[in-house]
Amino acid sequence: MEVVGYADQFSVAPGETVRFHVSCKQPTYQADIVRLIHGDPNPKGPGFKEELVATPVSGEYPGRRQDIHTGSHIIVPDVPLLGLHDGFTLHAWIYPTTPQKGVQGILTKWSEAEGGYGLVLDEGGVLAVWLTDPAGRTEQVRINTPLRSLDWYFVAATFDAHSGQIAVYQEPLRTWPQDQTRATATATTQLQATPTTPVDCVMAGLWQTGDDGESRIGRHFNGKIDRPGVFRRALSRDELLSLQRGASPLAFGDDLVAAWDFSAEVASDTVIDTSPHGLHGRAINMPARAMTGYNWSGAETDFRNTPHEYGAIHFHDDDLEDAGWQVDFSWTLPAECRSGVYAARLRTEGGEDHIPFFIRPPRGQATADIAFLAPTNSYLAYANEQLTTLPPALFPNRKQGELAPDDHYIRENRLLSLYDSHADGSGVCYSSRLRPIVNMRPRYHMRALNCPHQLPADLHLIDWLEAKGHAYDVITDEDLHAEGLDLLAPYKVIITGSHPEYWSGPMLDALETYLNTGGRLMYLGGNGFYWITSFAPGRPHVVEVRRRVGTRSWHAKPGEYHHSTTGEPGGLWRDRGRTPQRLVGVGFTTQGFDNSAPYERKPDGFDPRAAFIFEGIGDKEAIGDFESLVLNYGAAGFELDRAEHSLGTPAHALVLASSSGHSDSYQHVIEEVLLSDSQQGGTVNPKVRADMVYFEYPQGGAVFSASSIAWDGALSHNQYENTVSRITDNVLRRFAAEGPLSE
Ligand SMILES: [Fe+2]
Repeated sequence: MEVVGYADQFSVAPGETVRFHVSCKQPTYQADIVRLIHGDPNPKGPGFKEELVATPVSGEYPGRRQDIHTGSHIIVPDVPLLGLHDGFTLHAWIYPTTPQKGVQGILTKWSEAEGGYGLVLDEGGVLAVWLTDPAGRTEQVRINTPLRSLDWYFVAATFDAHSGQIAVYQEPLRTWPQDQTRATATATTQLQATPTTPVDCVMAGLWQTGDDGESRIGRHFNGKIDRPGVFRRALSRDELLSLQRGASPLAFGDDLVAAWDFSAEVASDTVIDTSPHGLHGRAINMPARAMTGYNWSGAETDFRNTPHEYGAIHFHDDDLEDAGWQVDFSWTLPAECRSGVYAARLRTEGGEDHIPFFIRPPRGQATADIAFLAPTNSYLAYANEQLTTLPPALFPNRKQGELAPDDHYIRENRLLSLYDSHADGSGVCYSSRLRPIVNMRPRYHMRALNCPHQLPADLHLIDWLEAKGHAYDVITDEDLHAEGLDLLAPYKVIITGSHPEYWSGPMLDALETYLNTGGRLMYLGGNGFYWITSFAPGRPHVVEVRRRVGTRSWHAKPGEYHHSTTGEPGGLWRDRGRTPQRLVGVGFTTQGFDNSAPYERKPDGFDPRAAFIFEGIGDKEAIGDFESLVLNYGAAGFELDRAEHSLGTPAHALVLASSSGHSDSYQHVIEEVLLSDSQQGGTVNPKVRADMVYFEYPQGGAVFSASSIAWDGALSHNQYENTVSRITDNVLRRFAAEGPLSE
């Protein structure tokens, strides 16, 4: 991409400042603030619409390249104690996942420019110790037997500066007959002392000098590290054996330099040293925490109950929390400012980018009766998704041909979503907004489906609100998590996005209370309220999901279902009793990727309580039986929800209409299939459908659920005059009006 960037926040209130971080290959670029209305260039719809906003931002800016550097690691600030002049022991348990990928730092105080010391996985997947002496001479001692991937090893390196003895040990946790990987390498060196390289100690990487001359950490380790530690002398083989068998490093008294306990403070980026020296470190780029250690017994699956069995951190060379770019320009919003979906529009020769953000109403106020709840958690979950781990045959509409520049940018920079897996095959459980999210853009068409999804699809709704003249505020998941009911309470109606899938507990609490105290919700999407999602304490830019059971693109490893950021069990809300059916009457039942289908009115749709919903719609008229901007045709498609009393749909809920006629691209969701069989496709399974549902909550509250991601893509058909638009408008006008819902 010629120009690309990100904002320092998603949601900004009038009077506050939003900052933009930009990378541009060209010497200059033009920046403007625009209000986004319709992002979909599909000629079957109303086309791209944005509105230039007059702000001091408008102008030309110097371009500069800012790069992405992925890879998680730990940094421990340098102290004289880490000089280790008389020798050392470096040790850890490790579980390498890509031992053959090249040099990987395990526990190092080494820079490629100046040397130092370090325990590393060397070329060929072999364990090695590297050290240089003050004269710059380097010694490298390697074990010639490569480590197996996906196995735990106790590894150690010792150096005695007086005798010159160097030793490297690797001991597999599981041993087998003829096991070659239990090995030791020794050497005697002329080196007289450990060097005093003035760099910080690093775990899971080492210091490199980049092409730009900057020193940064590279050679990242893929896999788990557990209980790393440092001593200031060479421990004997027997002493190492006692450590390997679980002796406390603290028992070694004054010789101990550091003993890190990765099971402490897992919700944070702090890494605790349990030695008296307090050489605490910081985890950079969010490696996965609350991970099973070498000694996990399986007796507990909650790390909070047996922290000593959760002493591991899983590092990945493609982790990224914060791209850390410099700020290029900022905008302080005026005190009076219309709430909406906005973007910084960047234009340069050969390229354009939009950096979306949301202007919320002033804090503590509403400026409309209606609020669109932008599902920013879902935008984060899908951030830069490529679905490369799923079989291409699933997606008949998949974009063909060369990668577009934005897709190319994602792959080139190894940007990952919560739908992707890391290079070592483990699932991605954290996503951050402090990095370019190039699919959260107007104009973006999801590669797998060749149509808009998430933010670009939600602009179908924004455009419709504008076209129909409904005044609305925009609020976000992040706001709702932070502020709870107070954020929702002033609104008569909350409208969801097309796929509000990722909810934190506090968000659900707030919505439940809102509905029970007279609030009204239009759930204009599918597969909502699905994955347990948490925010990292003190890091509101990060969300966490642990995929387990459910329809999923990866699966958390045994014992790793609990979120490190909150401790709560992850997975589906339905498995914690908070089913979407209880909240909005419907829950995920099927997904498919070819076409959508129309809805047909059901007997409940003729109930007098629902009469207002169908005003202007013929009794036999199909709903959404026309071309759509999402999956080409029909209003019920992509991901669909179904009413299910056994899962909590209230008895008084009206199933107004249902879709039918879906192809076998649509399969009944796996969480409801107990035994594999061949009867789950749309042509044979009646549960493959969308149910449009309406029901009342106490005190005048109510829910209307469209139950389809494709619903909003049908709104603009025929100049917004169609059955989907009519029903949406009927519901919204009545929900936003004073007084009872039905006569
Ligand atoms: Fe989804």
